[in-house]
Amino acid sequence: MITPVLLCGGSGTRLWPLSRKSYPKQFAALLGDETLFQASAKRLAGEGYADPVVVTASDFRFIVTEQLLTVDMDPGAILIEPEGRNTAPAILAAALHISSSDPEGLMLVAPSDHVVPDDAAFREAVARGIPAAQSGQLVTFGIQPTHAETGYGYLELSKAPDSDAPVALKSFVEKPDAKTAVKMLKDGKHLWNGGIFLFRACDIIDAFKSHAPALLAPVQAAYKAAKSDLGFLRLDPENWAQAEDISIDYAVMERADNLSVVPFKAGWSDLGGWDAVWRETGPDSDGVATSDHATAIDCQNTLLRSESDGLEVVGIGLDNVIAVAMPDAVLIADKSRAQDVKKAVAALKAKS
Ligand code: GDD
Ligand code: MG
Repeated sequence: MITPVLLCGGSGTRLWPLSRKSYPKQFAALLGDETLFQASAKRLAGEGYADPVVVTASDFRFIVTEQLLTVDMDPGAILIEPEGRNTAPAILAAALHISSSDPEGLMLVAPSDHVVPDDAAFREAVARGIPAAQSGQLVTFGIQPTHAETGYGYLELSKAPDSDAPVALKSFVEKPDAKTAVKMLKDGKHLWNGGIFLFRACDIIDAFKSHAPALLAPVQAAYKAAKSDLGFLRLDPENWAQAEDISIDYAVMERADNLSVVPFKAGWSDLGGWDAVWRETGPDSDGVATSDHATAIDCQNTLLRSESDGLEVVGIGLDNVIAVAMPDAVLIADKSRAQDVKKAVAALKAKS
């Protein structure tokens, strides 16, 4: 059995103004009818999968239960983080929880902000990674890069994959600068890290012991002192506050030498920014993507979205622009600056 670990505590600031502190992108139906979180949960359900362990923030706990219920799913456990400390502490807490009943239990860590259109192909890729994970490898899923993205991790393969079987990794580089990203795109030896990981609980705990030992004591103490509250497991705030705020990619993956990658060739996208939403919305031959209540006249390479029924958005003669209108906030940005939208959130926070 594989226990899915669904991470959904992020605030998705690069998708402001749709993604908000109180209702981040993973709980919104950005594309289609289901939310990204619901689609992620359903992707990892069925034969071979246990009920998911969800790690999230207190503010989102009822959104999580309600959204799982609507797709007929039960959570195995919902761990509540007193505050977001990024993915490393969250994954370690989930590993401790799973290991408390089954130290060698396989866990599949999945973000909840991805688009993976072919669920069956994804489960097949997971199945290909199981033998490697059972032998103690930390298994990642590698996506063929299409552009020099700086928002992803890059996986350097030890050899060209000759089939779809897992390949050992030479190195893992998280969020390279633009120059390095261009180099890695060109050399053909790198895949993108899909941000999805498969390992045994005991192996990731060991990896934390070796590569991020300072995280162990606070997260272990926070888990041991966790309080059960209406079916949620609230990690202890005082101990949790001592844990470093760091992602699994920097804390463990860049440092570990037991990494393998399963190439994943079916579609995948991290809706990490509005440029990705533009790509996934299927721009027309002029590169224009619009939502309902949005009209583009003589525009190119542009995303226009209205997030409200009573709000018409019209763009004229725009090139390379992202415009997203909410009833209480409007974003207008150069499309090449999509990753900088998080700066808008920081700027507004500083003003308030
Ligand atoms: N529970 C919890 N707590 N979840 C969190 C937290 C937290 O503090 N911080 C982030 N998450 C969740 C997010 O909601 C998201 O689902 C997932 O963890 C990944 O976090 P992101 O912040 O979206 O990471 P990223 O996109 O910058 O980078 C990761 O994903 C890329 C692919 O999508 C890395 O793993 C990259 O290497 C990878 O390429
Ligand atoms: Mg992401």
